[in-house]
Amino acid sequence: MSAPNHPELTPPTAPLTVKIDSVAFGGRGVARHDGKVFFVDNAIEGDVATIEVLKEGERYNEARVLTLVEPSPLRGKSPCSVSDQCGGCQWQGIAYAKQIEWKKQFVVNAVRRIGKLGEAIDVEVLPSPIDNGYRNRIFVRARITSAGQLKVGYFRAGSREFISITECAIACPRLNRFIQEILNLDFRDVAAKMQGSDEIKFRFEMQDLPARKDHEPHVLMSVYDPDDQNISVDLIVNKFKSLAAVAWVGSSKELVDAPFFEFESDLGITFHTAAGMFQQINIPHNHTVRRLVKEVADQYQPRRILDIFCGSGNLSLPLAKSSVHIDGVEFSKRAIAAAQHNVTAAGISDAHYVAGDTEKFLWRLAKQGIHYDMVIADPPREGMYKSLIPLMKIKPQTIIYVSCDPTTLSRDLSTLCKRDYIVKRFVALDFFPNTYHIESFVVLERIAR
Ligand SMILES: C[S@@+](CC[C@H](N)C(=O)[O-])C[C@H]1O[C@@H](n2cnc3c(N)ncnc32)[C@H](O)[C@@H]1O
Repeated sequence: MSAPNHPELTPPTAPLTVKIDSVAFGGRGVARHDGKVFFVDNAIEGDVATIEVLKEGERYNEARVLTLVEPSPLRGKSPCSVSDQCGGCQWQGIAYAKQIEWKKQFVVNAVRRIGKLGEAIDVEVLPSPIDNGYRNRIFVRARITSAGQLKVGYFRAGSREFISITECAIACPRLNRFIQEILNLDFRDVAAKMQGSDEIKFRFEMQDLPARKDHEPHVLMSVYDPDDQNISVDLIVNKFKSLAAVAWVGSSKELVDAPFFEFESDLGITFHTAAGMFQQINIPHNHTVRRLVKEVADQYQPRRILDIFCGSGNLSLPLAKSSVHIDGVEFSKRAIAAAQHNVTAAGISDAHYVAGDTEKFLWRLAKQGIHYDMVIADPPREGMYKSLIPLMKIKPQTIIYVSCDPTTLSRDLSTLCKRDYIVKRFVALDFFPNTYHIESFVVLERIAR
């Protein structure tokens, strides 16, 4: 049926040629045409592109690039051969100073538009000490071909198409060397068991243990079940076990019992981890955040500290001293076991980490009238909207809010700053160079009586 007989059906918009004038959080280019705003995948400021509209909305349209008519002068040579295909790094090849400028703008825009916090907040930006080779943990897709060859890779941006890699520019050098080793493994015996398909698909994670020397086993691996039910995950696990660099490898079902290993040491604490466990991926900048937390603690001298979404105690453990009481709460039982392991290894007496849901934990504290001088909050991407009411009821003098999403952070700040708190310091830290992601570190001081 054609659109003219059915005026309620909008005919698809024909391809348009536009100039991208800025970049939005999420990494998409922004173009304006005929009074409409277009968010364009894989486009950056300065590109001239013919675009196809994928979705039309009342406030904006979503589009993708059909042809890059004139690449932006900001685009340089990428050190990665698949960065234009893989969904990981949108900005490889773009001058790092420019990336920092865009990231600062994302944060400033979010704080003003969503947080409604006005112009007064000065956003300090700390670029990453290294702009590639910073990830100590990567999660990859894998394929075993019928000839018994292993391929590793990522999905193409926005799809499930497998993109094969031989190295990853943002992974640390030791993980890249390890990728070369696993690509040389012989999987012919596994391929021989394949049924009804021409390749076996699975995924796995590799984590480097920076505390270990090059000649020591230094990689933790967790392997997920392959799609071919005829292939036991143990067959693949055993192949990886044969490599000298592997400190521990197991299937995803074995992660609950995976042993702890020394991960790194900083500020007098040795931190431990296990395969599959969350750890900050950019170690130099994780050290920066710990120092920022410590600076704030030195300034406010809290005696009772609560660490919510605490993981394995990454941010609060270095604050432990005889006069300070620390409590921490975290969903993951494994992370809490690691936190307790860290406490024992460091001989700390007054730090207590428990497994639980932050919101419920805060409500319990609020109902019991328990007070903390300082709360460190490092929630996942969704932020901590539901936890804000009980958090404000326990009246911490200082809140340190660490966030990986400026939009949910700004939403939460707008609630906190309605009457109870003011922002004293705002630092944006680039944990993730060559991607649009940005971490924020915010210090809030209580003003309500
Ligand atoms: C961004 S990580 C931060 C971890 C830790 N602060 C660190 O620096 O390593 C967020 C953590 O929140 C935990 N988490 C997510 N939802 C939670 C909830 N509702 N209650 C408690 N912890 C939660 C996750 O398991 C994860 O460890």
